[in-house]
Amino acid sequence: MGTAVGSWQGATLAWVLVLLAGAGALENGLARTPTMGWLHWERFLCSTDCALEPLSCVSEQLFMQMADLMVSDGWKDVGYEYVCIDDCWMSLTRDHQDRLQPDPERFPSGIRKLADYVHSKGLKLGIYGDVGNKTCAGFPGSYGYYDLDAQTFADWGVDLLKFDGCNYGTQDQLAEGYRNMSLALNKTGRSIVYSCEWPLYMRPMQKPNYTEIKHYCNHWRNFADIYDAWNSVKNTLEWTALHQDSIVDVAGPGGWNDPDMLVIGNFGLSWDQQLTQMALWAIMAAPLLMSNDLRHISPQAKWLLQNKDVIAINQDPLGKQGYRITKDNNFELWERPLSGGAYAVAVMNRQEIGGPQIFSFSTSFLGNGLACNPACSIQQILPTSEDWGLHNWVSFLNTEVNPTGTVLLKVVVIGESPAEKPVMNINKKPSPDIL
Ligand code: GLA
Repeated sequence: MGTAVGSWQGATLAWVLVLLAGAGALENGLARTPTMGWLHWERFLCSTDCALEPLSCVSEQLFMQMADLMVSDGWKDVGYEYVCIDDCWMSLTRDHQDRLQPDPERFPSGIRKLADYVHSKGLKLGIYGDVGNKTCAGFPGSYGYYDLDAQTFADWGVDLLKFDGCNYGTQDQLAEGYRNMSLALNKTGRSIVYSCEWPLYMRPMQKPNYTEIKHYCNHWRNFADIYDAWNSVKNTLEWTALHQDSIVDVAGPGGWNDPDMLVIGNFGLSWDQQLTQMALWAIMAAPLLMSNDLRHISPQAKWLLQNKDVIAINQDPLGKQGYRITKDNNFELWERPLSGGAYAVAVMNRQEIGGPQIFSFSTSFLGNGLACNPACSIQQILPTSEDWGLHNWVSFLNTEVNPTGTVLLKVVVIGESPAEKPVMNINKKPSPDIL
């Protein structure tokens, strides 16, 4: 059995959840659905010169502003909760008691005060550390200090730890470090989501044991850092599909594969590519950690990131990760089983030349033939919300998708009882071609 949250109530809850889930997840009662929030890295990187870049340097002001906006601009209302600090928050040296300390110029009030501020807004605070001797950007690592650092984070009131894997030494030290930090966090008695990069650093040497990783971590990065570029999103999706046989089944309440941050609202993705990232991150049951500037974000990007129907798919309580069903020329068909026998379906057009293309597929492809058997109603969620009406197990769907874009659907099965027997709707787009 894994680690349990420190308070007695938490521990009891955790045990109940273990019994319910019957799985070997990190049962600290956290991340029952994928974590949602904001993380500074992709957008703000390691900007430490506040004289030069006062608005984008990694400072307490940046996180306070993001927390303010998360409340005032509706992000919190739709589920974004964790305001997360990434690398470069630290001072280059530990204090006289060996504790990590924030850079005094950029975090003059200290992390405890920042956590209090974030909590006063009804949000949670995330912080960053590293399993090795130094973080990826060269700040002090936690090697040799796991208990002390976990306790420091807990004392400050931190709610999530992203634990990186740079400068880790041997493979054994990497694994031991990730395990020990999980145990150390648990020992503090504070509920702290544990976000790992263990499999990413392990994979070049050894095949990750996901059952073990899930036992210690709430989510884990598998693949390279995301960039604000289509190539990066595309490669992340391709990697995930190629490895889906070994990573999909392990995901579930308490433990998730993490394909890295949402870069929607930045500079590098076209609108269709942003739709693709949002739709596929929902299909993959991915943590939704935005890395963008909430002070300057287009209404369109905000609409997409705050789309309640997509978020509902991402947060579906069944907690099953989706997978790619087929890759046919330039099209990819993905599905995710949802609670109540429903499915989310994504049709992605990978073609990077020409205009919108039509992909026709049989509903019998979906849910192993069960998603529309005997009938189903289909709702288009992205790019726009549209009712596709009723279909059955022999319907063909014609889906028009822009280059590098995605159409996201929700398919709800309709039972066989006479009362529920559907009347086929042939007027709604796309028209079902009965075989
Ligand atoms: C690694 C991680 C990134 C980010 C940087 C910070 O590259 O994978 O997500 O945390 O380190 O230095």
